[in-house]
Amino acid sequence: MSVSDRLDVVAKLTEIDRSELGFVCSGEGLKVDTADRMIENVVGTFPLPFGIAANFTVNGKDYLVPMVVEEPSVVAAASYMAKITRASGGFQTSYSGSLMISQIHVTGVNDPYGARLNVYQHRDELLAEANKYDQTLVSLGGGAKDIDVRVLEDTQSGSVIAIHLIVNVLDAMGANAVNTMAERLAPRIEQITQGKVILRILSNLADRRVARARVSIPMKNLETNEFSGEEVVRGIVRAYQIADADPYRAATHNKGIMNGIDPIVVATGNDWRAIEAGAHAYAARTGRYRPLTTWEINNAGDLVGTLEVPMAVGIVGGATKTHPLARLSLKILGINSADELAQVITAVGLAQNMAALRVLSTEGVQRGHMELHARNIAVQAEIPTNAVDWVVAEMVRLKDVRVDKAKELWNKLSLQR
Ligand code: MEV
Repeated sequence: MSVSDRLDVVAKLTEIDRSELGFVCSGEGLKVDTADRMIENVVGTFPLPFGIAANFTVNGKDYLVPMVVEEPSVVAAASYMAKITRASGGFQTSYSGSLMISQIHVTGVNDPYGARLNVYQHRDELLAEANKYDQTLVSLGGGAKDIDVRVLEDTQSGSVIAIHLIVNVLDAMGANAVNTMAERLAPRIEQITQGKVILRILSNLADRRVARARVSIPMKNLETNEFSGEEVVRGIVRAYQIADADPYRAATHNKGIMNGIDPIVVATGNDWRAIEAGAHAYAARTGRYRPLTTWEINNAGDLVGTLEVPMAVGIVGGATKTHPLARLSLKILGINSADELAQVITAVGLAQNMAALRVLSTEGVQRGHMELHARNIAVQAEIPTNAVDWVVAEMVRLKDVRVDKAKELWNKLSLQR
């Protein structure tokens, strides 16, 4: 399809006004004036490709998924895997809730264990104090809900107390709310512990804000022209097992998952560094860096995949509201809560990982890349649309992908006609 035809389809499926869609996507979406109010020292904006992954079914609901990414094959791979999973019901997901952790680190306490229990004794008072600073959040059912206190025994400067304020941030990413609460509580914490507060900031290891996705696919749905379903499934499971044994591979495995996650996080104006930090810290939570997904074969012989990852994303506040493309992305997704967004993102991460493992354990990644590259070359060579597929296939078969070659093949085809 042409870009314009794709926009027609998106407008039709989402019921977003076609001209609004076209305008926001035209590259004019983020004005320099708006950008100038978002960060400092702005000199312009930096556009990236904005694509739509198709075919996603998550918990029985269909989604078009906006993805902002510079890497070829990512959108195609996600869409293709979503198409395969769709036949067996799509992705099943859940979310632990929007609980963020805000940390307050206290030093200089001689009796850290005594101080720890003293903080617990003041739990209700501290929660009430924290909740004074975000009445709106509290009125909507969110706010500070609990306190956890850890003693870090062996830091280079002796024992440190880490107080965790657990805050339900509802539909926000929540950084501002929880950082404010930690800063405001610090003086009272110093009185209670008789120590000195050093740091007051959220933790990106958002392990109380975890999204989970699961998929189950019959072997036969994964067969290709060259590989049986069983070969594909065994390849995916083997690839996962290798990642689980080898942190060098696990890093690349998880990068493939983030290929699915980051583009939606960016498209919706969320903080992708926070998501990356949380994902990798979570991957190392057992003391060894491991894959965020698992792949197994169930009793029926189906491939079963899971992904579990901290997902601190919001749909209110910050760039989610100020960036016109972020607002549009949420409209395209048809999403009304941060919960739902977190779950869809996790489904796409799982799809992306499956795509990578499938291709790596069968034909390898280069063939697909070569095809996309060949398609770009065919366009550059101005090959007519109805001949592009043939010219691309020939260049890939001959492993000779050049503009000259595309033109030569097109001339040959014209002569044969
Ligand atoms: C490339 O961007 C991502 C992969 O390396 C992921 C993987 O190896 O699993 C293909």
